Amino acid sequence: MSALPTKPASAPGGMPVQTPQQQMQQALQAAKMQEAMKLRMAIAENLRHIKRKYIVMSGKGGVGKSTVAVNLAAALAKEGKKVGLLDLDLTNPNVPLMLNLEDAKPGGQADQIIPVALGDNLLVMSTEFFLKGRDAPIIWRGPIKMNMIQQLLGNVAWGELDYLIIDLPPGTSDEPLTIAQMLRDADGVILVTTPQKVSVLDVQKSIGFARTMHLKVAGVIENMGAFACPHCHKTTDIFGKGGGDELSSEYGVPLLGKIPLDPAVVQAGEKGIPFVWRYPESATAEAFRAAIAEIRKKEG
Ligand SMILES: Nc1ncnc2c1ncn2[C@@H]1O[C@H](COP(=O)(O)OP(=O)(O)O)[C@@H](O)[C@H]1O
Ligand SMILES: [Mg+2]
Repeated sequence: MSALPTKPASAPGGMPVQTPQQQMQQALQAAKMQEAMKLRMAIAENLRHIKRKYIVMSGKGGVGKSTVAVNLAAALAKEGKKVGLLDLDLTNPNVPLMLNLEDAKPGGQADQIIPVALGDNLLVMSTEFFLKGRDAPIIWRGPIKMNMIQQLLGNVAWGELDYLIIDLPPGTSDEPLTIAQMLRDADGVILVTTPQKVSVLDVQKSIGFARTMHLKVAGVIENMGAFACPHCHKTTDIFGKGGGDELSSEYGVPLLGKIPLDPAVVQAGEKGIPFVWRYPESATAEAFRAAIAEIRKKEG
């Protein structure tokens, strides 16, 4: 016996009607969208006393994204601004290490998490604070990860802040994408690249990503640029040259600054002191402050 031909169900007026499965799917989809909207509203509500929010992103790890996030936050705090630094990197949350806060414990409770204070003006929150053993390999399951991120965006009691700097997981995979979706009203994405071609290619992807997500792009910071030898004082472009300029001119994205490759940045990071606090007089610290000045120009 041949199967009956399937004819789309139609209402008396000839209008197609949905099958029960289609109706169920549509209802599920609507519920999901409503849930996402509720979540975005809860996050926006929690962050409503923050004047400016910037997301630090990079096409890949190891380009200095966390270093840039830490030093921008620390330099702003030193100026007297009230600053929050939120580390949402789930695989390598190394902001606490860079600030010597590895043993710090946030206070409060699950729906009102109190961030860790560093000095008078800097508040820090990191996924790392919630890991059991510091050396344990970090293997998170998808839903647990997202739950953690949602809590850190929606339940941290920052209070009034001038700036919130958010360190995202590297790359353009599902993880940063999902987080970025929750932060669509951010004031800008700060992209970090090194000067060489491969890194620039990765940042091109990040620019596309930010634009697809309708996120404002504040600009690019080129990190690990010219190295000034402390002995012979000659400069060398260890990681190539021109990446930031190329991106800026090709994509119309502002170049916010160029941070030199500086061994003292590594040392400060390992000692757990923000570089800009440890060596405020250096040319590298000046480069961080110049990047802040550029960001601020765009704030109007
Ligand atoms: N401008 C710089 N000069 C020298 N070393 C740097 C510089 N920026 C970052 N580093 C070092 O490079 C390594 C990776 O930096 P990190 O900020 O952890 O990168 P990411 O967050 O992109 O993975 C760290 O050891 C850091 O100290
Ligand atoms: Mg990092």
